[in-house]
Amino acid sequence: MAARVFLTGASGFIGGETLYQISQLPQPHQIRCLVRDISKAQPIIDAFPSAEIVKGDLDDSALVEKEARAADIVFHLASTKHEGSSKAIAAGLSDADRKAPGYWVQMSGASMFAGPEIKDGKYGEPSDKVWDDVDDNKEILDVIKSSPARVVDNIVLSQDPSKIKTVLIPGPMIYGTGHGPINRRSIQCPEVTKYALQHGQPYMVGKGESAWSNVHIHDLGKLFSLLLQAAVEKREGVWNEQGILFPENGTMAFGEVSRHIANAAYEQKLIKSNEVKSVSSEEANQIMPHGAVLLGTNAQLKSSRAKGPLGWKPSAASLAEDIPLMVKDEAERLKK
Ligand SMILES: NC(=O)c1ccc[n+]([C@@H]2O[C@H](COP(=O)([O-])OP(=O)(O)OC[C@H]3O[C@@H](n4cnc5c(N)ncnc54)[C@H](OP(=O)(O)O)[C@@H]3O)[C@@H](O)[C@H]2O)c1
Repeated sequence: MAARVFLTGASGFIGGETLYQISQLPQPHQIRCLVRDISKAQPIIDAFPSAEIVKGDLDDSALVEKEARAADIVFHLASTKHEGSSKAIAAGLSDADRKAPGYWVQMSGASMFAGPEIKDGKYGEPSDKVWDDVDDNKEILDVIKSSPARVVDNIVLSQDPSKIKTVLIPGPMIYGTGHGPINRRSIQCPEVTKYALQHGQPYMVGKGESAWSNVHIHDLGKLFSLLLQAAVEKREGVWNEQGILFPENGTMAFGEVSRHIANAAYEQKLIKSNEVKSVSSEEANQIMPHGAVLLGTNAQLKSSRAKGPLGWKPSAASLAEDIPLMVKDEAERLKK
């Protein structure tokens, strides 16, 4: 059965990949994409001729609510923090006239686990805590519900499961080059690499022993397409309080990530030494917005539900395999 999909963030890294992956499914779906910058509409249509463009901004709550009301499933991938659009999606999907529950897939971030480290100003330190999205479900719910700053996550979790089936995807470090029509580049690794190429060496925060899990953007997009299929088939067990799915396929300490970047850049003769520089959390924040949190905290995740009941099988290159390609891409990008 074809689903009516409303997707935000089609011009972005995650939304663009998701649009690509759901467009690859054997069953065509009716996809409407919210695009705020009309100059980005044509490249999206060129790449995905059957996609429909909805010109508008997340701030236009009436428009977002109207689109959500008309959709079977909303992929809200443009922002993890936009409260107004999240409330509008909730209102549209829970409309009293709907014949069946609506589905809502919401992007979130793994920095949700960094609260205690941020509070203690502890960055770059190791941790042995691994969060399993099945075994630690109750503890994870407690982390979110006790964090007033996780506004959107809490809006998602507060929905009535008889009206809206929700999924939260706390993104860890996402790497790889996306298939999207416009932005194909992630943030954490590419920004460290850019710095390394500009300054001659990459950096790590403190001892570089804190670690985040990671996922290739292609595998993440495939997870979103599986969720669309699960919604169409009305499968149970992956929604609402059970629907906090960790998309991970490995974990690496940030110091090791930087060493891989240094080695690849050195081998490609882009830098003169393969040493990694240690910086303080303050310096990390000056180099990159939220650098201390994004490169100095721990978010070690175990994906049990997606790899279990949902049948997600990540198959893209590992982070270590991808880094030399990313270094090459960043060098070419800087030349331009
Ligand atoms: N990349 C990661 O590693 C990662 C990991 C976890 C979570 N996240 C979060 O996931 C979200 C998406 O990340 P991303 O990497 O895909 O970012 P991105 O490449 O910058 O894409 C953001 C997308 O959202 C759109 N958008 C932003 N604000 C909008 C607004 N007010 N109205 C309409 N569209 C709007 C952008 O449109 P324009 O093209 O017009 O700007 C773009 O299509 C972000 O909140 C990010 O923090 C990212």
